[in-house]
Amino acid sequence: MFLCGATIQKIALCKHRVLGSTAWELYQTKTRAMVLKENPFGQGFFKNISIRYRFIYITKGHNNMSAIPQKNEVISFQTVSEAPVSQSVKRVALVTGGTGGIGTAICKSLARKGHVVATTYRNEEKARAWEAEMKKEGFTFHLYKCDVADAEDSQKMVKAVVAELGPIQLLINNAGITRDSSLRKMTHEQWHSVISSNLDSVFNVTRPAIDYMLDSGFGRIINISSINGQKGQFGQSNYSAAKAGMHGFTKALALEVAKKGVTVNTISPGYIETEMVAAVAETVRNSIVAQIPVGRFDTPEDVAHVVSFLTSDDSGFITGANLATNGGHFME
Ligand code: CAA
Repeated sequence: MFLCGATIQKIALCKHRVLGSTAWELYQTKTRAMVLKENPFGQGFFKNISIRYRFIYITKGHNNMSAIPQKNEVISFQTVSEAPVSQSVKRVALVTGGTGGIGTAICKSLARKGHVVATTYRNEEKARAWEAEMKKEGFTFHLYKCDVADAEDSQKMVKAVVAELGPIQLLINNAGITRDSSLRKMTHEQWHSVISSNLDSVFNVTRPAIDYMLDSGFGRIINISSINGQKGQFGQSNYSAAKAGMHGFTKALALEVAKKGVTVNTISPGYIETEMVAAVAETVRNSIVAQIPVGRFDTPEDVAHVVSFLTSDDSGFITGANLATNGGHFME
């Protein structure tokens, strides 16, 4: 959570002196905070941000209340009471594969909420064209080249995001590929590439990111799975296995981090009109749409809407869930 001195001073119970009159950007845990930047955007920038905790500054191990915390100093404070949390709290969000169909809608929706959005990409040319297009539409995203199927690459990317933007608190594991084939024709390469891009990637990115969420006492992890992880699909034993595996990961991790303010959920979209679905033969696509009770394909915005809901502060009681956005195509 990011706080600033100006806001703190306004609402804190000033029995002891609080942070001073300049704006400070802090990386906060429940009892400690690190001063990340001094007055990064000028005073008044955070005027509208309300904060979760009211607290007293008790740092430096003494009562010298004229002490002003320095950049990178770890300070302590005492929680006094909770204040309502505003949805305008600005967080750092990482969306893997954000340049794709669903990813783009997710990035835009998080940016509209005021979050700082980072995304990964593999194809330089496609990513730069996407970035330019987004700029035209008024969005600024932070792009990081990374193959999320590669553990080392993912670790470096997470470190870079944190160093440049701050601790990640919203993580959307969205990157994924298909290599459809019936099992008797499937090569090891088709199996392995789908499992590593769609399932290993979830471990590769979440593992280095999780500590920042646990430290700050707030985190939202959302794994974008698929209807085909729930019901299976002819020609997708690799994809269905990876997507079903994602939800197993979700449930196990949800148990591990529930007490620390971090939720982990899966979204299982149905068939969406993206490049991935466009690659499926027209006859197959027509037969699929005929099975969808609402009578149309999913849209990326349908998924982004659920991401927006699950990443909000108000969704803290939803964890380990699998939300289907499939127009009734498959019901569990
Ligand atoms: N359902 C039932 N039977 C099928 C079938 C299907 N979808 N596809 C092929 N078959 C049958 C054929 O009719 C044929 O039967 P006969 O031998 O009796 O004639 C037999 O299976 C052929 O088997 P093959 O191994 O030769 O399969 P193929 O090469 O013809 O087709 C495939 C394989 C291209 C993968 C095809 O099954 C297919 O298009 N499947 C759908 C894949 C799909 O839906 N992908 C979704 C991509 S989008 C996505 O994944 C996003 C998301 O999350 C929803």
